[in-house]
Amino acid sequence: MRDVAVIGIGCTKFGEKWESSFRDIFVEAGTLALEDAQLSGEKIDAMYVGNMSAGRFIGQEHIGALIADYAGMATRHIPATRVEAACASGGLAFRQAVIAVASGMEDIVVAAGVEKMTDVGSDESTDTLTGAADREWEGFMGATFPGLYAMIANDYIHKYGMTREQLAQVAVKNHYNGARNPIAQFPNEITLDTVIKSTMVAEPLRLFDCSPVTDGAAAVIVAPLERAREFTDTPIKVLASTQASDTIALHDRRDISTLDATVAAGQRAFKMAHLSHKDINMVEVHDCFSIAEICAIEDLGFCKKGTAGKFTADGETALGGKIPVNTSGGLKACGHPVGATGIKQVCEIVQQLRGTAGKRQVDGAKIGMTHNVGGTGATVAVHILGRV
Ligand code: COA
Repeated sequence: MRDVAVIGIGCTKFGEKWESSFRDIFVEAGTLALEDAQLSGEKIDAMYVGNMSAGRFIGQEHIGALIADYAGMATRHIPATRVEAACASGGLAFRQAVIAVASGMEDIVVAAGVEKMTDVGSDESTDTLTGAADREWEGFMGATFPGLYAMIANDYIHKYGMTREQLAQVAVKNHYNGARNPIAQFPNEITLDTVIKSTMVAEPLRLFDCSPVTDGAAAVIVAPLERAREFTDTPIKVLASTQASDTIALHDRRDISTLDATVAAGQRAFKMAHLSHKDINMVEVHDCFSIAEICAIEDLGFCKKGTAGKFTADGETALGGKIPVNTSGGLKACGHPVGATGIKQVCEIVQQLRGTAGKRQVDGAKIGMTHNVGGTGATVAVHILGRV
């Protein structure tokens, strides 16, 4: 297996992008990544595109071919493959690109993610997202994603006694970081009061405990590490790439407030990279709801089970804390265009490792991690990236 490096990144601004089409936003992110790698499109050997549900959101399937066409690569006939694993589609697209390069099958590969969610109304987007859960046992019974994560939150609060303020601090911290990220959907800081007094969505989760519905695209370019310096002075090495699965329905889990797929993917990643959680300088975790960040940082081993509420309230996950979490603003404040999120997480860690994250820079960042979840944890992808 060859070592793999990220040589270019590009990300659109996240938000409601009514002025641009699905293909426009993909091309924008891809062009930014090519420019970043100082690369012409003719050098690309293959593409993997994370997308959850263009069929439902914009009525378009066959995304691999569409993207290759609008990226100007159709006449070169390169392989272009759509990857789908609900909200983990981007993380898995990145992993497929890494595997293709590591295996020696391809050299210069684009891993991208794109989703355009705001062309449909709230009812339709909620129903489409429910397709990431078990339609027969959860969706048809009326469960929505906020509802399923509310069950996780209630179970967690019942077992560990986390306070409303501790949970709300996840959102306050992520909005603080998002306010320092130019691509974030919500560029505003908020207070504990904003979260606690916001509209109830699914008890105990309120509006500001939820990630929003978002349009956006992100792209990264990977290459063999031995060739990376042809394109960039700051290649970022992929130290681990892992994936794990679990039961699709929440009620079949051993423990609904522990994501065993996160535990498995995290442990495998640390083993693959010969590292431990103490070596990680910052982590982008999948905070689709505030409770998801609480579970993620425990399940990845950054703090003990049942302590993440206090850990967060004590500022340990903030910029300057023991382990800064979601410096991008996370899904909560940066936004969550589902198929693009896993790639945006990689873009954020690469910026941190290059030292170009501006006002949200983690001093001396050398190693970072991404954690991308599909559904309520039926698919998880974890990556560890490091400065060369
Ligand atoms: N956080 C903060 N503000 C939000 C928000 C969020 N998550 N979602 C919407 N808003 C804001 C909007 O910007 C808008 O503000 P404005 O009136 O100042 O323009 C206002 O709230 C109403 O927006 P609207 O789109 O009508 O909200 P909604 O009630 O239709 O949707 C949620 C709110 C929480 C239901 C929706 O964002 C949602 O479904 N989120 C979860 C998405 C999800 O499940 N993703 C997959 C996870 S695995």
